[in-house]
Amino acid sequence: MSDVIVEVDGVSKRFGEVNAVEDFSFHVERGQVYGLLGPNGAGKSTTLRMIMGLERPNSGVTRLFGTAVTAGCPELTRVGAIVEQAAFVPHLSGMRNLKLWWMAGGGRMADADLDNALAIADLGEAIDRKVKTYSQGMKQRLGFARLLLGRPELLVLDEPTNGLDPGEIREIRELIGRLTHQGATVLLSSHHLSEVEQVCSHALVMNHGRLITSGTVSDLVGTTKSIYVEVDDRAAAHELLVQLPSVINVQMQGDGLVMVLRDGRRSDVGAALVSAGIRLETLMPTQRLEDAFLDLLAAGDGGAVPSLQAAQVSS
Ligand SMILES: Nc1ncnc2c1ncn2[C@@H]1O[C@H](COP(=O)(O)OP(=O)(O)O)[C@@H](O)[C@H]1O
Ligand SMILES: [Mg+2]
Repeated sequence: MSDVIVEVDGVSKRFGEVNAVEDFSFHVERGQVYGLLGPNGAGKSTTLRMIMGLERPNSGVTRLFGTAVTAGCPELTRVGAIVEQAAFVPHLSGMRNLKLWWMAGGGRMADADLDNALAIADLGEAIDRKVKTYSQGMKQRLGFARLLLGRPELLVLDEPTNGLDPGEIREIRELIGRLTHQGATVLLSSHHLSEVEQVCSHALVMNHGRLITSGTVSDLVGTTKSIYVEVDDRAAAHELLVQLPSVINVQMQGDGLVMVLRDGRRSDVGAALVSAGIRLETLMPTQRLEDAFLDLLAAGDGGAVPSLQAAQVSS
């Protein structure tokens, strides 16, 4: 039996004219390291904030451990989140900060998971230095230590490596690696494909508040479910392909077109093009995660969103 920790179920969120998140659904199971990948403005932070009860969806529901999330609901105590820059008292040591924070929450130090938190954060002797001497990366690691004191069942991390230099980014990735080695369930957002590839077991790509593609990272990276074609008449091919029920997310790329196969075989796409009188020069599998992400970055405005409505207009 899979154990669903996070559920985002048909959620939409508007800010004035902006649809930050639109009819968005996914779920995270225990033990998964789930990445939300998308460019700036895609709706990642809004999604995480709705999961943490910091924003209310206009429609749909977010659930934690099977219970609908409301501001301050008890399930949130089982979650450790970094959704904003962690703040510390600068003239106190890292250790002092950890202890003060824990006790301010009403906890007894004996109940905190201090040894593990320190081992994961790996700050060494710096834990006894004043926080004002810390680099950005060290503060981020102290932020992780603070989260871990309460033995969270889920970690929610909004762009955990943002604003860090390459060395610090590597340290945070290694830290997340240590966590996942312990079987932690993690939901993180990133606008770096390589980060998601390196640390996540599962991922989705989102843009303009909508889901583009999702799956296990190995499927997303290694699958042959996405294909690239080159044809003599790209416009005609595009028009035909968006009508095919077995194909979604048809987009121009380079000299050709990329698309995701929902079902059916690659050869079906070839056959459809050829029988429409379109000359097929190239047809090959591609890597979905990279394609889905790079395409929408290249498109600037986010590119076309999968034209699922075309599924009804079967050819
Ligand atoms: N509090 C807010 N008020 C108005 N617009 C917002 C607010 N929060 C987010 N947005 C808008 O919603 C969209 C998604 O933002 P966000 O969730 O922060 O994306 P991401 O984290 O992927 O960069 C953006 O267009 C952003 O400007
Ligand atoms: Mg964000």
